[in-house]
Amino acid sequence: MSDKDLRPLFHITGGNGWINDPNGLIYYRGRYHVFFQYNPNDIKWGNICWGHVVSDDLTHWEKMPIALVPDKDYDKDGCFSGSAIEWDNRLWLIYTGYTVNNGGQTSRQIQCLASSADGISFEKHGVVIDSYGLPDGYMPCDFRDPKIFLHCGRLYCVIAARKADGRGHILLYRSDDMFKWEFIGDLFGRDCDGLMIECPDYREEGILLFSKLVQQTENGCMDDYHTVRMCTGTLDLMTGRFDATGEAPCDYGFDFYAPQTFSGANILIGWMSMWSRSVLNERYGFCGMLTVPRKIYIENGSILQEPIVSAVDVVRTEVKNSFTDRAKIGVIDIELKNPEKFILSLRKKENITTDFILDGSEWILDKRRSGEVFPDNGKETDSGAVVRRMPSDSSENKRIAVVMDEFSIEIFVNGKSLTSTLFTDEDADGIELVVKADSCIYTRSEIV
Ligand code: FRU
Repeated sequence: MSDKDLRPLFHITGGNGWINDPNGLIYYRGRYHVFFQYNPNDIKWGNICWGHVVSDDLTHWEKMPIALVPDKDYDKDGCFSGSAIEWDNRLWLIYTGYTVNNGGQTSRQIQCLASSADGISFEKHGVVIDSYGLPDGYMPCDFRDPKIFLHCGRLYCVIAARKADGRGHILLYRSDDMFKWEFIGDLFGRDCDGLMIECPDYREEGILLFSKLVQQTENGCMDDYHTVRMCTGTLDLMTGRFDATGEAPCDYGFDFYAPQTFSGANILIGWMSMWSRSVLNERYGFCGMLTVPRKIYIENGSILQEPIVSAVDVVRTEVKNSFTDRAKIGVIDIELKNPEKFILSLRKKENITTDFILDGSEWILDKRRSGEVFPDNGKETDSGAVVRRMPSDSSENKRIAVVMDEFSIEIFVNGKSLTSTLFTDEDADGIELVVKADSCIYTRSEIV
């Protein structure tokens, strides 16, 4: 098979185009709708439309016509990220209209509305929050990614913004009719340490997610240049203040950004990439994938994630010391009790291997021998040769799930996640598990 024919089996891509953020995630009239930032005509970012797919089971996705194209004077340079809600028997999309003007601070980002009765073809309703809707001191060129939600019959939305003399902020707005929006407050009331916040998302069970673009890093290291944070806490809908009770990374991998949760379901999907990364779009003829859908919930004060994949078990065995298997697509579940040693090698072939290892109080994903070859963009850590770490909790039982598809692995341990793209050899499909534990049950399932 030529490289250009390879595609993930069950992860959402833009076919032969480019995709970035998931948008407008909604469970509407019995089906899951996913929209996404999409350039249908190129393998690079530009001409941003909203692509659209739907699913009954969150594993098989059916392509729908493009929902939004940048064809109005207020969104002519891109229909940027946004969200969806069901209201008055229609599916509404609120998104950011982008116009470049003369670039830099002359560009404008304003919030626009579209709606649909059938959830497939959309009618635009124009601008609902323009630059005048921004409080004093915030920049009209960095005001984007509205995430809408309903509370007691009123509509609210959180929007990312930036202070003229500062950094990223999140603002809360309120509306009674979807068209007129009133500014309520600034969630944190202070600068965050990212140059800009993107794609904020608030869930009423007390979860705030946001992506941080360009944060201060040591020695110019790219590892955590952009990140996604998740906070537990409560948003006071009268003042707009968010009172955080906890904060943690949303994912410990390299390839995870701009996640959004569904309206009508506690499920999250992220963009399985990151700005500033080298990409292999020329080689594979496409660019960008979304993560697998993940159930998101709070347990003992922590926000946890669990993958949702429709799959059936094909192998189930107790592993004493070691075990080998073959597969590059599917899900591996491992139930471990009191592990002393754990090395799971994936996508193995000759001297190629991608290893997931327990090292004391940390899990390590080691891609140094994964066989990925990225063009050198002058940043040492922005390449396939990466090692990522995720803290291991102190519980004796570990539940591991590894979701594997062409070009990616997503690892979950007791609800924490580590997501990585993996552009390894197409034929590398060896699996090896070496373990020392009180017990270890290995189950592998295939997508159905
Ligand atoms: C996040 C982001 C959003 C913006 C969109 C543009 O990845 O930068 O802030 O709306 O992508 O495609």
